Amino acid sequence: MLIMGVPMRFALGILAMVGATVSGAAMAQAPAAGSSSASVPSPSFPAWAYPWAPDFKGPPDDGVPRHVPDSAAAFTLTQERNLFFVPDWHPDDHPAMPDVVAHGRQPDVRACGSCHRAEGTGGPENASLAGLPASYIVQQIADYKSGARKFAGPQRSPSLLMTAIAKATTEEEAKAAAAYFAALKPKANIRVVEADTVPKTQIARVFYMLSKDGGTEPIGERIVEVPVDAEQFEHRDTRSQFIAYVPQESIAKGEALAKTGGNGITTPCATCHGPDLRGVDSVPGIAGRSPSYLVRQIYDFQQHARAGSAGAPMAPVVEKLTHGDMISLAAYVSSLKP
Ligand code: HEC
Ligand code: HEC
Repeated sequence: MLIMGVPMRFALGILAMVGATVSGAAMAQAPAAGSSSASVPSPSFPAWAYPWAPDFKGPPDDGVPRHVPDSAAAFTLTQERNLFFVPDWHPDDHPAMPDVVAHGRQPDVRACGSCHRAEGTGGPENASLAGLPASYIVQQIADYKSGARKFAGPQRSPSLLMTAIAKATTEEEAKAAAAYFAALKPKANIRVVEADTVPKTQIARVFYMLSKDGGTEPIGERIVEVPVDAEQFEHRDTRSQFIAYVPQESIAKGEALAKTGGNGITTPCATCHGPDLRGVDSVPGIAGRSPSYLVRQIYDFQQHARAGSAGAPMAPVVEKLTHGDMISLAAYVSSLKP
């Protein structure tokens, strides 16, 4: 089918039984449930960036092996859902995974690749890791471990697991994972599309997919990031593609802010993230990454939930940003080549 000129495929089977349809207005007003400052939600709180339907359950495993395009591999739902296993659909696309990425270590260190995928492509619910500086990855694990990096907003289970994993990870494991992900080339897998009207979405536990009932609604003040093929994405295929619908004109607004700082609202991003925003030394690249992830990070810095000393340069950058600024910056930065 075609929505806004873009071919989309609905997930059938695995995700078709998802509940709650999300409307833009309802999400914009959702409080920061579970956050330590839940009683006074910040006006910049991007509720839409934290989809969370904890009661969502996929269908039971019927034992039928699943497939994705252009792969000879086959995995059952039980295998795909095992956090100590990585469905490696395209083994020729990447070097051999170190043990911590492929299997993790029982009982606490889940395989990095199970959530961040075999090639560090990640998804809107976590983070892409491919091509990040190794020293940056090691530092982030240390910050999660020490508590210097926390999460503002709803405490969703993958984030809590990330902290638990970091706490149990040894320095050798962190270094091995960092070296592996740093050497991978980040993929351009997100198409940023400006739109007034967007397809209705529903939450598949921690990410949005198109509503099975179809329909459209006004975008409002949010970004709607969905996998093009939700089923393929749920199978953790590293070749999954995404569309991020953003408000009209937000890319140009974001570009102006990112390049000029918008008269002192912020600081030009290229000063530290490099001319193409692909990172320099231990400063991470931000170009072409999930806009939901980027906005959560900007909000986390603003709320001082991300308070590691290496992140201190970000404090003045985010201090004055409004919710609308965050959306514009993420729309622009995500639209760049990673
Ligand atoms: C249960 C799923 C899960 C597993 C397994 C997992 N992570 Fe994460 N990871 C996350 C989530 C969720 C985030 C944060 C997303 C956010 O801030 O919104 C994250 C964030 C990160 C970040 C920060 C990225 C950045 O750009 O700052 C790093 C680095 C990272 N993980 C490394 C690892 C490593 C190394 C492993 C294996 C030892 C691992 N993760 C295993 C879910 C996971
Ligand atoms: C003065 C230097 C500086 C400027 C200017 C700057 N950044 Fe950063 N940024 C950093 C550093 C350093 C980090 C890594 C923080 C850490 O280690 O925790 C970072 C991290 C980030 C992250 C988190 C990335 C990740 O992988 O989790 C985002 C998102 C980000 N910056 C966005 C921006 C945007 C957007 C701009 C421009 C409006 C900008 N930054 C300008 C220094 C800067």
